[in-house]
Parts: sequence; structure tokens; C-alpha cells
Amino acid sequence: MAATRVSALHRTAFVTGASTGLGRAFAEMLLADGVRVWGTARDAARLAPLAAGHAGNFTAVVLDLRDGAQAEAGFRAADRAAGGFDLVINNAGYGVFAEFAATDFSEWAEQLEVMLVNTARLSHAALGGLLARNRGALVNISSLAAEFPLPFQTAYNIAKAGLSALNESLMMEVSGTGVVILDVRPGDYRTDFEGSVRRPPSGATVPSPRLARAWAAFVAMMESGPAPAHAAAALRRALLRNRSGTVRIGRFFQAVVAPFMVRFGSLALKRRIQAAYFNLT
Ligand SMILES: NC(=O)c1ccc[n+]([C@@H]2O[C@H](COP(=O)([O-])OP(=O)(O)OC[C@H]3O[C@@H](n4cnc5c(N)ncnc54)[C@H](OP(=O)(O)O)[C@@H]3O)[C@@H](O)[C@H]2O)c1
Repeated sequence: MAATRVSALHRTAFVTGASTGLGRAFAEMLLADGVRVWGTARDAARLAPLAAGHAGNFTAVVLDLRDGAQAEAGFRAADRAAGGFDLVINNAGYGVFAEFAATDFSEWAEQLEVMLVNTARLSHAALGGLLARNRGALVNISSLAAEFPLPFQTAYNIAKAGLSALNESLMMEVSGTGVVILDVRPGDYRTDFEGSVRRPPSGATVPSPRLARAWAAFVAMMESGPAPAHAAAALRRALLRNRSGTVRIGRFFQAVVAPFMVRFGSLALKRRIQAAYFNLT
């Protein structure tokens, strides 16, 4: 019989970036379903509301993905304390909106380090335990940007495309075991993401009105997106199915219509439509 609560499948979960936005909604959904949650932020104070609301079932973990070794050590310590996590959700991330050629390369490389390399590092640390126990789920929060790259967000697009490729690879590797891999690709959601996007000063080799128009379109899409609880409900349904797969979530046009349409069109047509979507034509 299919499970009706996530806790019937997973007793414990580790969620990165649980202080706000999607990660916080994921943590709240899991706690409401009876799962014990270890949630991370770079500053424990940002997790105080979750800890206060769920004493005994929520544990705050300080973790900064800019330092891979420290992040892995933090994960392993929490994993030992939990007796081995059943569910690991790599959710933490941020945006950088800037012109590629004019951005300091260290800013660009740091985003890949945080969102691809060190997220893969936590996946690597988690998967060993899951496979040893032959049960549980690894969820990596990618983005529809893996399929529809965002203008002026090159490192973000690459990180998410790379993460989805990792997820696809792992689905093949774990097939036949009791472990589930979910490649979750959200469209635009109304979170703190837009507010925390870094916008390093541009050397302006691209005419700035184009940058401004793309930014305005991006903000409008984020602000009109569904609330994080919508994403949590979609993740809950995917977890209850208990099988590996790609999960596109968000408003109907972004998560269903657009991916369906591009199967039948050319890449050139897709680029033209995306340019129009971001007022770049
Ligand atoms: N919102 C969307 O429309 C959307 C669409 C597609 C994909 N996504 C993805 O969904 C995930 C969550 O995004 P969100 O929209 O919920 O954003 P958000 O509200 O800005 O939350 C981001 C979370 O990531 C954490 N974080 C940021 N940098 C970190 C670092 N260096 N080390 C560790 N944690 C860090 C933040 O924790 P602190 O408290 O430490 O700041 C925060 O909890 C991201 O991976 C994002 O790319 C979002």
C-alpha cells in the first residue's frame, strides 16, 4: 500500500538552506508529516523560528557551502547524530545576476564551487550511507534553468545543468537498489531568492538597458510565482511515490507547457522565445 505520510518512508531528514524560502517550506512540510529534521543555515539565528516551533524534532546545523571540507564535516556529524539520514535534500543556493565577461571570475567560480562542487560533495557523503543501508532518498534541488538558461546568470545555469546531470547519472547508478534519487526542477517561486541575488558592478560591455530589461522580467516572474508551500506539496507527492525521477514544479506554463513544447521545436526557436520572455529582442 502507498504511504500517506513521508514519515512512513523516512524518519529523519537533512535539509540545506532551511532558514527561508523553499528549504524552510520543505522542512515545515516534513515536520508536519512526523519526520525529524536537521536544517542548515550559515547563521543559527536564522533557524530560531523553526527550532522554536518544533522543539525536539528540529535540529539547527550551521553550514556554509563556500567551505566544502567544513560543510562535509558538518553533514557527517549530523548524520552520525541522526543514526544515518533517511532523506537528504540539497536545497541551498543563490543567484548572481551579471554580465559574464564583466564579472570578476572569482565570483563566477565561487558560485560553481558552492552550488555544484560542494553540493555534489554532500551528495557523495550522503549516498554512501544511503546505499549501505539500501534505503532512503537523495533530493537535489536543481532548476528549470537547467533546461531554460537564464540570461546574465551563467554560473547559475551551469551549476543547475550540472546538478541535473549528476542526478540523472545517479538514477542509473542506483537503479535496482532501495535508494531513490529525485531531480527537482522548480520554475519561479516567490522566495527571498530575488532579494539575495548578488549583482556585482558591470563593466558594461553589454548595453545596460538590455541588462535592466532582463532584470525587470526576472523580478516580475519571481514576484508572481507560487508560494514556497506549493513546492513543498509537490515534493511531498514525489517523495510519497518513492521512485527516482525528474520532478518539474511551478506554474503550469513553466513546468508543463514549455518543456513539452521544446521537445518539438528547434534550439534556435527556443532561444528566440526565451529572448522575448526576457525582453531581450
Ligand atoms: N525561488 C525560485 O524561483 C527557484 C527556482 C528554481 C530553483 N530554485 C532553487 O531553490 C533553492 C532554494 O532557493 P530559494 O528560492 O528558497 O532561495 P532563498 O529564499 O534565498 O533561500 C536560499 C537558502 O540557501 C542558503 N544559502 C545561500 N548561500 C549559502 C551558502 N553559501 N552556504 C549554505 N547555505 C546557503 C540560505 O541560507 P542562509 O540563511 O545561510 O542565507 C537560504 O536558506 C536554490 O538552490 C535555488 O537555486 C529556486
